[in-house]
Amino acid sequence: MCGIVGYVGERDATPIIIDGLSRLEYRGYDSAGIAVLQDGAVQLRRDVGKLANLRARLADSPISGQIGIGHTRWATHGAPAEHNAHPHISMNGDFVVVHNGIVENYLELRDELRAEGVVFKSETDTEVIVHLIERFANDGAHRDVTEAARRAITQLRGAHAIVVMSRWQPDRLVAVRIGNAGGVAIGLGNQENFIASDIPAILEQTRRMIFLENRQMATVTARSVSVQTLDGNQVTPSVHTIPWDLVSAAKGEYRHFMQKEIFEQARSITDTIRGRVDFEHHTVQLPELNLTEEAARRIDRVVTVACGTSYYSGLVGKFFIEHLARLRVEVDYGSEYRYRDPIIDDRTAVLAITQSGETVDTLAAMEEARTKGALLWSIVNAIGSQAMRMADGHITMNAGPEIGVASTKAFTASIVDQYLLALHLAQQRGVRTPDHDQRVQDAARLPDLVGRTLERSEQVEELAGLLHHYTNFLYLGRGINYPIALEGALKLKEISYIHAEGYPAGEMKHGPIALIDESMPVLAIALKDSVYEKMISQIEQAKARSAVVIAIATDGDSFIASKADHVLYVPETPELLSPVIAVLPLQMLAYYVAVRRGADVDQPRHLAKSVTVE
Ligand code: G6P
Repeated sequence: MCGIVGYVGERDATPIIIDGLSRLEYRGYDSAGIAVLQDGAVQLRRDVGKLANLRARLADSPISGQIGIGHTRWATHGAPAEHNAHPHISMNGDFVVVHNGIVENYLELRDELRAEGVVFKSETDTEVIVHLIERFANDGAHRDVTEAARRAITQLRGAHAIVVMSRWQPDRLVAVRIGNAGGVAIGLGNQENFIASDIPAILEQTRRMIFLENRQMATVTARSVSVQTLDGNQVTPSVHTIPWDLVSAAKGEYRHFMQKEIFEQARSITDTIRGRVDFEHHTVQLPELNLTEEAARRIDRVVTVACGTSYYSGLVGKFFIEHLARLRVEVDYGSEYRYRDPIIDDRTAVLAITQSGETVDTLAAMEEARTKGALLWSIVNAIGSQAMRMADGHITMNAGPEIGVASTKAFTASIVDQYLLALHLAQQRGVRTPDHDQRVQDAARLPDLVGRTLERSEQVEELAGLLHHYTNFLYLGRGINYPIALEGALKLKEISYIHAEGYPAGEMKHGPIALIDESMPVLAIALKDSVYEKMISQIEQAKARSAVVIAIATDGDSFIASKADHVLYVPETPELLSPVIAVLPLQMLAYYVAVRRGADVDQPRHLAKSVTVE
């Protein structure tokens, strides 16, 4: 996954940046690069593969200077190749940029810049950023790097972490954070300062750090750090002192890992999409699935097996695969599958979803499928895990290590993986739906939508203050968001120990309605989608029984506020992808309620991150 390191000071930037990049190796990447200012010129070295390759290149042709930026890349737009690796340089060689995120509107921006005569050297979306900065800088009035960067960045759609260096102002780096495409930490040293996307990259250098908030930018010299909002208002940032312990350091500005993992989902989802979606040709590539067109056409059924949160993710995936690839899908509990003599043959693809890749019940289901001759796939987060090794093909979640026992970012990552799988299956089977291209394009919008939803945490926290004393909750959803009701209820019970039931909304009248009174809040996912009216009528039925109703609703839906007691709004999202957005307020609600109740959020009682017993 992409990582950023920057340095400005009196020492040689090259070894400091390379050391920082090496500390990000655990996140995974496919290429790396570095740029330093040496004698007034930008010197660039990049290479594919491991950092050792870049190190060897630097040994052959060394560069040194007192200011520089480096990057490890996980390809999104454009293959892992030297010319696609960051940093990217402008036409005149005046500016260089490293970037984490996806520029959603890069095709339009690229066409605009091409029309102005810009020649692109890579297939990346990032390259538009550096050319835009040069365009604004050459505007005359803006020979200031911070100002040019600000103007360029306001043109970008999506969530981003960006660092800019220029030979015009060789004493400074400009760092920007928009949304949650990754954090930007500024490490404070003595006559030197550091920038990093992840704390471990610079922790050996300094423990004192500033974290940029959304829509903030910093101008960093060896002796000063000036932070402003993107609108140009000066900000006085807080300086945090990070303890030396690397594990807690990895927690960064957060109190709990679960909180960190919830709030890094714009970045983790960017990493999930990276390298797999060709937005220009509207195709999805999943090379590790090893699925030929012939094999794809032979499959007549997918059986998903998983446990816990991963099982609910599978229920969402069923909608994707059936709708987009027109293949029948069954979803089964890993722990149940082998007890019912399942009907499997060589035309069945069994898909195991498992964050850890080691859940024994899921592995047992895989074994059962293997014995019966099914094609075996897995979606895993832990690289090299058993479920990855056993399968004929796999898709990694690329969510980064998930430490909180209650799964959050692996849930959304595995949903996105199944969305990509469904699109890939449609391509390989030759059954693209008429809106296939649009569906591919929709994936690019996710990181920004996720970031915008997570920004609303304060409202969720306030609501947790009103709800934490209840002892029973009912969560309702319908259609593609019914599994999200199940997952929302699971999150609450796992970490706050409050009893919560998740139900498909239409089933409420067949039982759970008997429980409803003023002591049982009902949480209803009621987005403006194909089941909206049905959800409104469920809300009315719950209200008629005196329930306190909390609705998850779409921005702009003022009608629902007259029906529900509390509304948590989320941005409008294409219906198929709405589970990824709808689950976020539910994760946050569970988290804030648990914190209010003083529960051990990261290690809830009786639960384990990886369940290796039956
Ligand atoms: C445990 C965890 C859950 C997780 C489930 C499946 O119960 O506490 O958070 O969803 O295992 O784990 P897996 O690693 O297979 O996704």
